[in-house]
Amino acid sequence: MKNYLNKRILVTGGAGFLGSHLCERLLKDGEEVLCVDNFYTGRRTNIAGLLSNPYFEVLRHDITFPLYVEVDEIYNLACPASPVHYQFHPIQTTKTSIHGAINMLGLAKRLKIKILQASTSEVYGNPGVHPQPETYSGNVNFIGLRSCYDEGKRCAESLFFDYHRQHKLNIRVARIFNTYGPRMHPNDGRVVSTFIVKALKNEDITVHGDGEQTRSFCYVNDLTEGLVELMNCPDGFTGPVNLGNPAEISILELAESVLKLTGSKSKIVFKPLPPDDPRKRQPDITLAKQKLNWQPVTPLEEGLKETIHYFRMLLNV
Ligand SMILES: NC(=O)c1ccc[n+]([C@@H]2O[C@H](COP(=O)([O-])OP(=O)(O)OC[C@H]3O[C@@H](n4cnc5c(N)ncnc54)[C@H](O)[C@@H]3O)[C@@H](O)[C@H]2O)c1
Repeated sequence: MKNYLNKRILVTGGAGFLGSHLCERLLKDGEEVLCVDNFYTGRRTNIAGLLSNPYFEVLRHDITFPLYVEVDEIYNLACPASPVHYQFHPIQTTKTSIHGAINMLGLAKRLKIKILQASTSEVYGNPGVHPQPETYSGNVNFIGLRSCYDEGKRCAESLFFDYHRQHKLNIRVARIFNTYGPRMHPNDGRVVSTFIVKALKNEDITVHGDGEQTRSFCYVNDLTEGLVELMNCPDGFTGPVNLGNPAEISILELAESVLKLTGSKSKIVFKPLPPDDPRKRQPDITLAKQKLNWQPVTPLEEGLKETIHYFRMLLNV
């Protein structure tokens, strides 16, 4: 029997990679979830397992247009997240970040409810400081190919803080770093999904440069836990707060792990580094540990096994 005191929660981008895991997590907590998505990168299969739950509802809607619904909390995740997707229609990406934020903040203001923004480590651009604390104001090329995403997310953060200052809105801003796991899009061009898909098809895996550049990957369940902790932490803490996994791994080590775990016959081939490829990307999660008592707990090998299992089923290999 449902506890009628539980919340009705709006998740924008709820059919996407992170959004679908968040919807699932909130339903498990007994909340009612309204998933709003325009299915630009989200897929119906991501939420297929949730449709039989009577407390789950899906609304096809583009958040660049106003939305009038009655809810108790908003998680604003709608926005394509991988460069291949957000650069495909850059103007729409900027509109989703900015008009979408204005529409969702307007809804939160009308209903006087809490709203969380899924921001990104990309607000730091090509950083001159490693690892990046939340106080670092970033180094973004504001007319480059990534600027539709980076500047859109930066402007959305500005809007969140202006609504907080001007209208006393209860906001939360999470700066999410590289996250991986089941339901990633197989063609999103991200390193984890690309390596796994290539390995499962026994195709060559391309490593750029010498492969010694490092990255840090957070498993999706850890990340959704962090978002929920941030939403539920005592009022007064708005963020921005970095959420990610500080454990570093070189790209070459990642390729080797994927080959080992898939038992693939793929070969690693080396190609020149693309321009602006950062040597290192790693979150500083000191603030998240202090304020949210949160840190990732899933070892990379365990998360990779789950992700490989998902892609094996998806590709039927
Ligand atoms: N995955 C990561 O590593 C990562 C890192 C940093 C930040 N983020 C942020 O987290 C959020 C979710 O990322 P993801 O990896 O799940 O991406 P995703 O592309 O899988 O999900 C985004 C979802 O938003 C939907 N969407 C896009 N534009 C929309 C619009 N105008 N109206 C309604 N729905 C729209 C898409 O259809 C999709 O379902 C994004 O805001 C992204 O910027 C993700």
